[in-house]
Amino acid sequence: MDVSRLREDFPLLRDGSLVYMDSACQSLKPDCVIEAMDLYNREYPACGGRSVHRLADRVSMEVDIARERLAELIGSPAAERIVFTKNCTEAINTVASGLGLKSGDRVLTTDIEHNSNHVPWLRLQRHGVRRGICPTEDGALDIETFKEHLSADVALVSMVHTSNVTGTTIPAKEVAEIAHDHGALLMLDGAQHCGHAPLDLEKLDADFYTVSVQKILGPTGVGLLYGKEELLERLEPLSVGGGTVGLADYGSVNLLPPPERFEGGLLNYAGVIGASKAAEYLMGIGMRRVREHEASLQRRLHTRLEAIPELSIVGPDDPGLRGGILSFNVEGMGSHDVAMILDEMAGVLLRSGMHCCHPWFQSRGLNGCARASMHVYNDHGDVDRLADALQEMASTFCR
Ligand code: ALA
Repeated sequence: MDVSRLREDFPLLRDGSLVYMDSACQSLKPDCVIEAMDLYNREYPACGGRSVHRLADRVSMEVDIARERLAELIGSPAAERIVFTKNCTEAINTVASGLGLKSGDRVLTTDIEHNSNHVPWLRLQRHGVRRGICPTEDGALDIETFKEHLSADVALVSMVHTSNVTGTTIPAKEVAEIAHDHGALLMLDGAQHCGHAPLDLEKLDADFYTVSVQKILGPTGVGLLYGKEELLERLEPLSVGGGTVGLADYGSVNLLPPPERFEGGLLNYAGVIGASKAAEYLMGIGMRRVREHEASLQRRLHTRLEAIPELSIVGPDDPGLRGGILSFNVEGMGSHDVAMILDEMAGVLLRSGMHCCHPWFQSRGLNGCARASMHVYNDHGDVDRLADALQEMASTFCR
């Protein structure tokens, strides 16, 4: 993979002043994504699925293409399994509110969920839905522990596919098989997995899968909810209105079939078109190559950071388990201070704090950590710039 050529596609990287390592929060967008969105706004800024004039037809066609492309990116056997949402959080909330979980049902998560896969289940406790939390080792899920926590009342297993804190990935295929044998459904929060590794949801056999488009080189304001047809059929939409209706009279309504049933109101068309381009761009590189590239960055960063005694890695020691994410703390320093100093000192941008994963940090008495999260556009020079800056920080502030 020619990273230096590829970096030219990202406007923010062209002058070399910044090292961007906050892709787990939001990835950068290549020119083709920005241009596709701009083209929509300039040339056919209309509404899909309603008007029949030429501009509207073009929008409807682009939305169909986007569904096909995103289906291909995640290995969905049908484009109709893809629902466009506002973000990954809305996708999870759609399932939480619409699945018809009843009093006495249990939802089983890991202990390292992002708040988006935690708070919706806390709210359901008001209605008698119970919660199970399966412990992990810094995000690494042990299958025997999972089985022990899969009590008879578990109706839904809802787990993070790849942790946004430690970068660990759960053995999703085994989890799906075991959950299904148990009669439970499986939803995976794929916000940090999709766009970083090959994904084949048909093989993986998750029932629901959620994606955050701003983390896969696409724009903000778009997420995906993948669901199997029979489950989308029985899922109650989060909001209904224009675009969701087959026919209505004053007293009743026939909703359209999925996915449109879930897409009330005008879609973020520019965003959906940008998402489509982002998927095309990633597939053009090849998801295996993206994964290998991130693994090679991780290995180098690990080697460099291991050599700084004042620094402790948050998560597993083995770099092979951490994908493109490396979280750490610097002895005696708050994570926000570390992040601000890295920005000031070296133009290295990363995230600090609890990463919307408060329960996990609270349970360990940790105030947070700094997190370097990499994507396809990072290179070994970026890794060295971060490591050099940390080395200097440690010798300056940790005496
Ligand atoms: N979930 C995003 C992150 O981890 C916002 O940064």
